[in-house]
Amino acid sequence: VRHIRLIGIGAGDPEHLTLQAVRALAGVEVFFAFDKARSTDRPADPLVELRRALIEHHREPGTYRFVALEDPARDRRPVDYLDTVADWHGRRAELLSDAIERELGTDGVGAILVWGDPGLYDSTIRIVERVLALGRVNFGWEVIPGITSIQALTARHRIPLNRAGEEIVITTARRLPESLEQGHRNVVVMLDPDFELPEATSMMNIYWGAYLGTPQELLDNGSVAEAGARIARRRRQARAEHGWIMDTYLLRSADSAAATSEIHSST
Ligand SMILES: C[S@@+](CC[C@H](N)C(=O)[O-])C[C@H]1O[C@@H](n2cnc3c(N)ncnc32)[C@H](O)[C@@H]1O
Repeated sequence: VRHIRLIGIGAGDPEHLTLQAVRALAGVEVFFAFDKARSTDRPADPLVELRRALIEHHREPGTYRFVALEDPARDRRPVDYLDTVADWHGRRAELLSDAIERELGTDGVGAILVWGDPGLYDSTIRIVERVLALGRVNFGWEVIPGITSIQALTARHRIPLNRAGEEIVITTARRLPESLEQGHRNVVVMLDPDFELPEATSMMNIYWGAYLGTPQELLDNGSVAEAGARIARRRRQARAEHGWIMDTYLLRSADSAAATSEIHSST
């Protein structure tokens, strides 16, 4: 029976690859990848190129095949976000189902290299489940964990993700206002197209990282009041220079829960 490995490859640095991931790469016959450049006028999808380079580094030429699938186009700012995403996943699942059937022998081992960790803001697991639900092709599958962009961010800033005893929220830019309203003190923001920080962040500190783990890596931190506009500027410049940007940041209230409870207990 066919087998598919979802291999977390880390957030940009080839050395993020774990020993388990390296071993998992070794036996793969066909690598499948969704390629945004095939459905847009972009010259090449940089994340597909990085995956290719990673495979070339670990495998002898001619011992595997790389099958790039045209990523179905989708509306990036739809009215109904969840419906649009579900529909897009459905189309991806159909493409992948056909490709597995066409490209992989009945006992073949295939893989999808997943950016960061397959469990964090990534649709590959859901798409594989949908492929199986379509019922056209059967296979076993496994997930190999990877270093997330959040781990890359905190390591480069040399900070712990959580302060002692505090919660940590991981969210998208779209839902950031909601997390701030709920009074969360540590919020990691991913998938931010605009970097428009709500007013409620003005008393927080920010730890920002773009292209983490790659030669283009950018880091900055400070209070939002002091560093916010600078980061917005650096971000605009970097996006103009490279044509794309991928960044993540941690917003942390200036006062810790421990400090606040000390104040309360001493009054
Ligand atoms: C679709 S999510 C994938 C997350 C991934 N599975 C992970 O474990 O990090 C893409 C978002 O991850 C973040 N991201 C991924 N790689 C990054 C990197 N090298 N530097 C900064 N942010 C990154 C950005 O917020 C980006 O919008």
